[in-house]
Amino acid sequence: PRILLIGPPGAGKGTQSKRIVETYGVEHITTGDALRANKDMETEFGKPREYMDKGELVPDPVVNEIVVAALEDAEGFVLDGYPRNEAQAEYLDDQTDLDIVALLDVGRDELVKRLTGRRVDPETGENYHVEYDMPTDEAVRDRLEQRDDDTEEVVVDRLDVYDENTKPLIEFYEGRDLLTRVDGDQTPDEVWHDLRLAIEDAL
Ligand code: AP5
Ligand code: ZN
Repeated sequence: PRILLIGPPGAGKGTQSKRIVETYGVEHITTGDALRANKDMETEFGKPREYMDKGELVPDPVVNEIVVAALEDAEGFVLDGYPRNEAQAEYLDDQTDLDIVALLDVGRDELVKRLTGRRVDPETGENYHVEYDMPTDEAVRDRLEQRDDDTEEVVVDRLDVYDENTKPLIEFYEGRDLLTRVDGDQTPDEVWHDLRLAIEDAL
């Protein structure tokens, strides 16, 4: 399957992508993780890192290139964090077809709580949350870090950037008859239950 997960920062795109990968054996294509893995990357537009730390979008050519390379070796995939504006969506449209675009819907207050409370294990990349989901292993607990863009100040900017640039894609994909809304404001298991039904329905 060729799945696109769309939704605001903190909606659970990464969390649900993992389940999609486990269930369908597809590639996880995520521009955010790819950019973070390459944190000293230099481009003709400057360092992606500097855009990310401010919550701004990294220039389209940089992320388009990441995605086109990843699509080349992927039979099926789940796209997470791309496209984020209409130009990226048009570019993607020229590269591949999609089976489903699933929108994870979550309200703003909950998003702020999830993002400011998120902690990441630098060794495994696993996401945790100070309130909802802490590791039982003390060694893991002690090494958890906060993502640089998960401070309250940057979170607010990221949510505004989403509203302005990415939200219009909901209409874009509705117009192509690909969009399904999933209530993302439930437990991860409940979200996965609904999301999986939506995917099965679309295949
Ligand atoms: P990116 O890495 O894509 O971040 P994001 O879209 O802001 O999304 P997040 O990763 O923060 O959230 P998520 O939806 O994956 O949620 P998660 O599952 O982790 O992008 C970062 C930056 O890179 C951008 O700001 C931009 O600068 C740049 N960039 C990336 N792609 C780009 C592009 N295409 N174009 C231009 N620039 C680009 O969950 C969040 C937290 O909530 C976790 O703690 C988790 O444990 C918890 N949680 C998850 N689900 C639930 C649940 N159901 N209930 C309770 N808690 C939950
Ligand atoms: Zn993510």
